[in-house]
Amino acid sequence: MSTQLKQQASYEATFFHNFWKQTLSRVPVIPPRTELAGKTVLVTGANVGLGFEAVRNFLRLRPSLVIMGVRSVDKGEAAAAALLREFPDARIEVWELDMESFRSVQAFAARAERELDRLHVAVLNAGLGKLKFERVDEGGCREVTIQVNYLATALLSFLLLPKLRPTTSSPESGRLSIVNSGASLGLSLEDPGDGRLLDSFDRPDKFDGLGQYGLSKLLVMMFVAKLARTINAEEVIVNCTDPGATKGTAFFRDVNSRIMNIALGAFMGLIGRRTEDASRIYLHSSLVLGKESHGSWTDWIIRAWPKTMYTDKGRQMGERLWDETLEELKFAGVKEKLQKDL
Ligand SMILES: NC(=O)c1ccc[n+]([C@@H]2O[C@H](COP(=O)([O-])OP(=O)(O)OC[C@H]3O[C@@H](n4cnc5c(N)ncnc54)[C@H](OP(=O)(O)O)[C@@H]3O)[C@@H](O)[C@H]2O)c1
Repeated sequence: MSTQLKQQASYEATFFHNFWKQTLSRVPVIPPRTELAGKTVLVTGANVGLGFEAVRNFLRLRPSLVIMGVRSVDKGEAAAAALLREFPDARIEVWELDMESFRSVQAFAARAERELDRLHVAVLNAGLGKLKFERVDEGGCREVTIQVNYLATALLSFLLLPKLRPTTSSPESGRLSIVNSGASLGLSLEDPGDGRLLDSFDRPDKFDGLGQYGLSKLLVMMFVAKLARTINAEEVIVNCTDPGATKGTAFFRDVNSRIMNIALGAFMGLIGRRTEDASRIYLHSSLVLGKESHGSWTDWIIRAWPKTMYTDKGRQMGERLWDETLEELKFAGVKEKLQKDL
């Protein structure tokens, strides 16, 4: 487990390590006996990029149903149609999910509650690196702010837990893998003093684009570590999965500087993995690795957490984040979703 890998954390956060990992190691193939017959798989942000390729990789293992969670159903249907040409016997459903709207996340989870007997594997991949500060007004509940990616991810995780838990007819642990990024490895959270930690991200004057992207991913890792201490791996195995720098996705779509685009193209050309290889990492994290990966940072092996998480300050920030998250999301009854495990 990542919890035991403190000695590696500083090294694994270095550019040298990541350069080496990206260029000299290959993502292993999925062991041949891995299969998904009778299982239901969810991938969010599945219409393009890593999510789309992950669905293709999952379909090779013949699941009963794949749900593509997408914010544009039209784009999702077009992506599903392309996959169905390749896998004509597959059952694919496109479900609307906007990770900038708590209501959409709740509606998505309610649909899962209504329509699924069991959800076996959920890969929460949807995410963007926004370059401009944006705030989304949700009306009914507190504004969704730029922490939306983190908070919506936490909300969806909580709400899916009941369906991920084993049933009598399907007794194996559910799998929840949340996509992370090496951009968070060397970061730490500033103590906001008497203020709320979540509010400290809701500051246009402090917003620095991709820096905040890394911080939002650090929040996700801290959340996953605490969630794993709260729920039992016999019920749901939760971990973070890191695809590493990946070329050929739409991730940098908001970058409109020509020079920046050239620089990013050159960087990705040098170290970026192909999408079909990087997306295979999601399958390693959610199928091949087992209970030993509960609460961990993973790709095809278990890696160290961001190094701040091994410090007293990082641990305190993690606890504070968890308490604030439960408070922020209490409108959706998230504590009750944890009840079975408390
Ligand atoms: N590419 C990399 O080098 C890299 C490295 C490490 C981690 N990651 C992570 O990998 C994940 C996928 O990235 P990618 O490179 O595949 O990027 P991508 O090609 O841009 O795909 C992002 C996906 O997320 C969806 N999405 C974005 N915002 C959403 C929202 N509010 N609600 C619902 N769906 C939303 C997008 O839908 P639309 O098409 O409708 O916008 C798209 O399907 C992200 O979490 C990213 O942080 C990427």
